[in-house]
Amino acid sequence: MANTTTLFALLCFLLLLLLSKTANGDAHILETNTTNRNATRPRPPWPPGIHFHTVQLPSLFPSNTCRPSPSISKDGLESKGAILPVLHLHGPCAQAQQQQQQHKPTADETLRQDESRVKTIQSRYRNAVAGADDVSVMKDSSTTIPAKDGATLGGANYFVTVGVGTPAQQQSLIFDTGSDLTWTQCQPCVRSCYKQQEKIFDPSSSASYRNVSCSSASCSALASATSMFHSIIGILINQVRIKPGCSSSTCVYGIQYGDSSYSVGFYGTEKITLTTSTGGVFNNFFFGCGQNNQGLFRGTAGLLGLGRDKVSFVSQTARKYRKRFSYCLPSTSSDTGFLTFGGGASTTKSVKYTPLSASSAGTSFYGLDITAISVGGQKLPISATVFSTAGGVIDSGAVISRLPPAAYSALRSAFRQQMSSYPLGKPRSILDTCYDFSSYDVVSVPGISFFFAGGVEVEIGAVGILYGFSISQVCLAFKGNDDASEVAVFGNVQQRTMEVVYDGARGRVGFAGGGCN
Ligand SMILES: *[C@@H]1O[C@H](CO)[C@@H](O)[C@H](O)[C@H]1NC(C)=O
Ligand SMILES: *[C@@H]1O[C@H](CO)[C@@H](O)[C@H](O)[C@H]1NC(C)=O
Ligand SMILES: *[C@@H]1O[C@H](CO)[C@@H](O)[C@H](O)[C@H]1NC(C)=O
Repeated sequence: MANTTTLFALLCFLLLLLLSKTANGDAHILETNTTNRNATRPRPPWPPGIHFHTVQLPSLFPSNTCRPSPSISKDGLESKGAILPVLHLHGPCAQAQQQQQQHKPTADETLRQDESRVKTIQSRYRNAVAGADDVSVMKDSSTTIPAKDGATLGGANYFVTVGVGTPAQQQSLIFDTGSDLTWTQCQPCVRSCYKQQEKIFDPSSSASYRNVSCSSASCSALASATSMFHSIIGILINQVRIKPGCSSSTCVYGIQYGDSSYSVGFYGTEKITLTTSTGGVFNNFFFGCGQNNQGLFRGTAGLLGLGRDKVSFVSQTARKYRKRFSYCLPSTSSDTGFLTFGGGASTTKSVKYTPLSASSAGTSFYGLDITAISVGGQKLPISATVFSTAGGVIDSGAVISRLPPAAYSALRSAFRQQMSSYPLGKPRSILDTCYDFSSYDVVSVPGISFFFAGGVEVEIGAVGILYGFSISQVCLAFKGNDDASEVAVFGNVQQRTMEVVYDGARGRVGFAGGGCN
């Protein structure tokens, strides 16, 4: 009797879960007929000792209501540092705050943008480690690299809200370890501002805004952080086209991203408030006051640059936070994560650190040396030179991790072999190993670990292994590079539910499992 009731309740719950799914941001689920589904996973034909995850399939998909993480709903100063809630741009937590609904990219669009972001990162990385100038707003356009080699944006879909000016005007900024310059759209929007959720920042209502002069060292330092710039984009002031450089002795910045998004405007200094307590306030922070802005920033006010260059937020706040920050990206777009500066929730967790790679020193990238990968607890037979030839970077904005071709093919074949009891589905977008789980509620998936320099083993969370388009198309969330010399990228699907700690002063990056709580 009790059993029947429990079973009935369970079925109702599952049905509700399935019916509540809608096409949503980074993943989609179709309404499926549950009556013929296997409620339990089949026993995979694995020998003892294979390490695997039991995955409830609904956990791979976002819900259409926001599920804030309990420990970060209170915005405030935690121990030594500042902690900010992180939301996904296209999830229900962000949508609830928005007056106008923004266009939500489909999963295919997201992965197409991801491909363009990764190509940009790879090209910038190649130039940066070769010592080529990655840059140059100030230089003649003939010396610049092609448009698609600009800075990165793509799938950088997570944002935080900070205060800008005096009194503080709240602005939502995409945070991005792949960019350095921080900017917001600015009144009077001399040329153009796109629609954003909050009121556009108005420097004339702020007591602390100052323009940076062309002759200052900070203006020259900009060149290293803003990538190339197309001479056709600028701002028109009194019918005169102002290109990045100088306008009546005010420093003009310009930054262009890989997908033809850009921001041009005055380089200024302003007070930035992360948290209201005094420890989270920075005076004279250098940022871009954007007068001509366009692109995939979708309702946010601009961008918070967390790269390693000296103009980045991380470098400018180094005296206080010692270039230390951490974040946890949530398991789906309907959950929340956090971004911390200077301390981090990590003090209570055990963090495994790997040194930043020597080849990334002096660049704006956080380089990591991958040494091996295991599937189901068994190390793949990949020669160490496969990883050392390519090098690796970790990036908060790339979605799917990219691996050298030989590493990916070894990963794929081990994964497919261990998943052979499940029906393969059609490949989709950039992903070639997909499963049709429509007759399951629960599946077993082999564990995947990455090994980094220093013998550090980082186990990917269950939600970091699979990318679900729908229940009938759930794919292995990795991709091989076309070329063995392209840098490997550790993307944000794989980082989900881990706290990733960037410890710039000590030259290392750490990982702690255990979710965003
Ligand atoms: C669900 O599947 C069962 C068995 O295949 C079938 O009998 C039933 O009609 C289906 N229900 C719906 C709503 O499609
Ligand atoms: C349920 O799982 C068993 C064992 O793997 C399989 O033989 C059976 O066909 C599955 N049933 C459905 C409806 O998929
Ligand atoms: C900053 O410089 C621009 C261009 O010279 C000028 O239009 C604007 O009024 C200046 N703003 C402040 C606050 O000085």
